[in-house]
Amino acid sequence: MQLKHVLEVDQFRRSDLDHIFAHALTMRAIAKHGTDNRLHDKILATLFYEPSTRTRLSFESAMQRLGGQVISSEMAAETSSAAKGETIQDTVRIVESYSDVIAIRHPDAGTSAAAAGVASVPILNAGDGAREHPTQALLDLFTIGDELGRIDDFAIALVGDLRYGRAPRSLAKLLTQVNGCRIIMVTPPGIEMAQDVLDALIASDVAFELESDLSAVVGRVDVVYMTRVQKERFPSEEEYSAVQGRYQLDPALLEGLRDDAIIMHPLPRVGEIHPGIDADPRAAYFRQARNGVFVRMALLDLLLNNQSQD
Ligand code: NCD
Repeated sequence: MQLKHVLEVDQFRRSDLDHIFAHALTMRAIAKHGTDNRLHDKILATLFYEPSTRTRLSFESAMQRLGGQVISSEMAAETSSAAKGETIQDTVRIVESYSDVIAIRHPDAGTSAAAAGVASVPILNAGDGAREHPTQALLDLFTIGDELGRIDDFAIALVGDLRYGRAPRSLAKLLTQVNGCRIIMVTPPGIEMAQDVLDALIASDVAFELESDLSAVVGRVDVVYMTRVQKERFPSEEEYSAVQGRYQLDPALLEGLRDDAIIMHPLPRVGEIHPGIDADPRAAYFRQARNGVFVRMALLDLLLNNQSQD
């Protein structure tokens, strides 16, 4: 497959997913035995204008596990020339001369696409506002495949902030590429999944239903995907407070969960999953975060066209 940028989930067809996930398994085998040096002559730049732990560090770990180097602006809104008013286009024109691939996280939707419009190196969208988080969606679906043994024919509950959460939004769109998936969207009123995503699901014949009671849903699915209420994107504190804390997966709720089901969360969690269930074998969220390294290794390798060394 020819991968130029990673900007949005809509760019991926099913055959691309199969290829990326197979490559991620190769990357996992490499990571298990240490490192590889296939990207030894390459530099990744990470430009993060929003907070991040997993996404930035797993990109950087992925690059280093393949022998590459990393340069990073981790608080770019405050410490890069953006604070002086530089546009993302100008920043990218500079950073591309220092690096071979650039991962960008930004609060404004469309920033990665704007960067890709001027960049001569591959751009990775590491989250743009409430719109897209394509590498998260890829690692989420990879995790489902790894845990359930299939990426078709499963039921998933997407729980929490589906309006401002870019992770569940991107995952729902990616599920248009699998067969026999059923989605139950569990939200309080006001933070439902946006209509454009529902329209995409309808157009691809993905079955979905809307719910508000989590306890009525846990026993009906293979995957419970919890999400954080995205405080930073709410117009007011009151609107945030009205929905925060609505869903918490705790040991009592877990009793209704099937033995072969899994619990996922893009993390960070702020109360959605009780720490008392972390030791449950169905709690897949830390394995999910770890898979981020393998999927990002695969993407970096594919973007930099080095996969021929397999
Ligand atoms: C998510 C994000 O940044 O959108 N985090 C992540 O990348 N794992 C989810 C969140 O912040 O709630």
